[in-house]
Amino acid sequence: MTLAPEALDQVETHPVDVLVIGAGGAGLRAAIEAKAAGAKVGLVCKSLLGKAHTVMAEGGVAAALGHVDPEDKWQTHFRDTMVGGKLLNNPRMVELHAKEAPDRVRELEAWGAVFDRTRDGRILQRPFGGHSHPRLAHVGDRTGLEMIRTLQDRAVAAGIEVFMECTITRLIKAGGAVVGAFGYWRTTGAPVVFPAKAVVLATGGIGKAYTVTSNSWEYSGDGHALAYEAGAELIDMEFVQFHPTGMVWPPGVRGLLVTEAVRGEGGILRNKDGKRFMWDYLPEDRRGEYAATDEEAATWVTAQSQARVVDARRPPELSTRDNVARAIYTEVREGRGSPHGGVFLDISYLPADHVRRKLPSMYDQFKELADVDITRGPMEVGPTTHYVMGGVRVDAETGASTVPGLFAAGEVSGGMHGSNRLGGNSLSDLLVFGARTGAGAAEYARRSPGQAYVDPVQVREGMRELAAPLERGEGENPYRLQSDLQDVMQRLVGIFRVEGDLQEAIAELRRLRGRWPTLAVSGGRVFNPGWNLVFELRNLLVVSEAITRLALQRTESRGAHSRLDYPETDEKEWNHRNGVARRAADGSMEVTTTALPEMQPELRSLLGKAH
Ligand code: FUM
Repeated sequence: MTLAPEALDQVETHPVDVLVIGAGGAGLRAAIEAKAAGAKVGLVCKSLLGKAHTVMAEGGVAAALGHVDPEDKWQTHFRDTMVGGKLLNNPRMVELHAKEAPDRVRELEAWGAVFDRTRDGRILQRPFGGHSHPRLAHVGDRTGLEMIRTLQDRAVAAGIEVFMECTITRLIKAGGAVVGAFGYWRTTGAPVVFPAKAVVLATGGIGKAYTVTSNSWEYSGDGHALAYEAGAELIDMEFVQFHPTGMVWPPGVRGLLVTEAVRGEGGILRNKDGKRFMWDYLPEDRRGEYAATDEEAATWVTAQSQARVVDARRPPELSTRDNVARAIYTEVREGRGSPHGGVFLDISYLPADHVRRKLPSMYDQFKELADVDITRGPMEVGPTTHYVMGGVRVDAETGASTVPGLFAAGEVSGGMHGSNRLGGNSLSDLLVFGARTGAGAAEYARRSPGQAYVDPVQVREGMRELAAPLERGEGENPYRLQSDLQDVMQRLVGIFRVEGDLQEAIAELRRLRGRWPTLAVSGGRVFNPGWNLVFELRNLLVVSEAITRLALQRTESRGAHSRLDYPETDEKEWNHRNGVARRAADGSMEVTTTALPEMQPELRSLLGKAH
């Protein structure tokens, strides 16, 4: 490691071959793979190890194991994912994902994950929205938690060095390549530098840009913004997934996830008049995939609870997330919602012990937080910001971004999910592409000579940025800016969008950006949440602008992006185009489109006649 003497004596440094930023499922899986390939790996997380948003994917990990329905194959998983994403997905990523997810799940089992079982002792699979077969391997409704536990044990056992409670504020570059990262310890506020031959971003999503979200405080778009500032491309950021079912009451837990597994196990959505409204919202061209009557849906639920395949179609509640979220939003907006601004989700008609066994976390969550017994009555639920389909443009095989030395995996990367992600595909995504990206980064590091030169000017600039809000004295409180930002995104760039709102949001975001340099915080650097928020806000402003500008650019409705002024999917104009946001030379955000990667004819043939 070479660092100029004047910076060396001030800054703690940890040179590594591969630096992984983020210790959720994607980060852990990447770190494990890079270490196995012989790299010296550093794993950085903002929080404590194990406190990862991956645990919020509760209902299962999607993989065509074919344990419940032997008809399920990688080809059907490929098709469902492409159709769910409205064909905007990178087809090669979807192919790799569908082919490799089963092995990644079996590997996880071999590493100690304890999945629910079929009667004959194999991994049990449950249905989820948009999946044509019961496909989600699960551990009750705690699948993400079990995955993190397993991956974490594996990473620790492999001897991977973990740097906890550390925020990265900038990537360090040399000659156009990323050669390390600069950040600070949240515990002390002291700066730290990680010279690295390759950097993997695995920082998750952007939910904290919105008021109502299932995401925890860590989800502030850090990796998206770091990549953008380093010159990488962000694609498809307009596609923000509003999970249909978050808690709506009491106010302190608004947005907290109510797993899709509730609907997978047979949960029925009703409005205040008791109407099962999802019958009215099924897309005309897909209606044939859903049960035609309550009776047929009930037959399906009974069969699935016994892991049997029957000749009955799935209930309307298992439509794709984009569609169910729009339906709930519409019911509420048109005055048919529940008392606290949601709708009712009812699973209490099933035997209580079955519900408690299949959905233990949901049972506890509603009992403890809302004083509702879900085995006796319905839950109140409404849409909550859950996931961003867009992210850093990466190479499907290796996770490499367009900037040398920079890689991305998991939610921070884009391309895999197109315009709408199917539930459970995030957990398989992070396993498949976490492993591929760890290998890709290790190989890149192996080919890089010597240790990177870390430019002291960039380190000093990082240190100056850290000090500024503490030295400013007078200035604006970061919590006020955060609240204003979330209000803009929630109000103007939500489930339904329209040009006037998006233009207004862009103007508001410009004003908010202008306020960022005036943020001031009191107190010191030790565990100072206001100070930490300043740097997260900078990231949230970048991702919010990318979402809004790309939403304005896309003059159609597709997947999670619904334009009231362009309600149709414009296949001619937009079928083959990803939106792209990148930093222009003058520092402004430039938005454009690029052609979707070509789909091989043999993959196209899997999509069937309609596509
Ligand atoms: O509803 C859920 O359990 C979430 C799963 C996911 O986002 O993949």
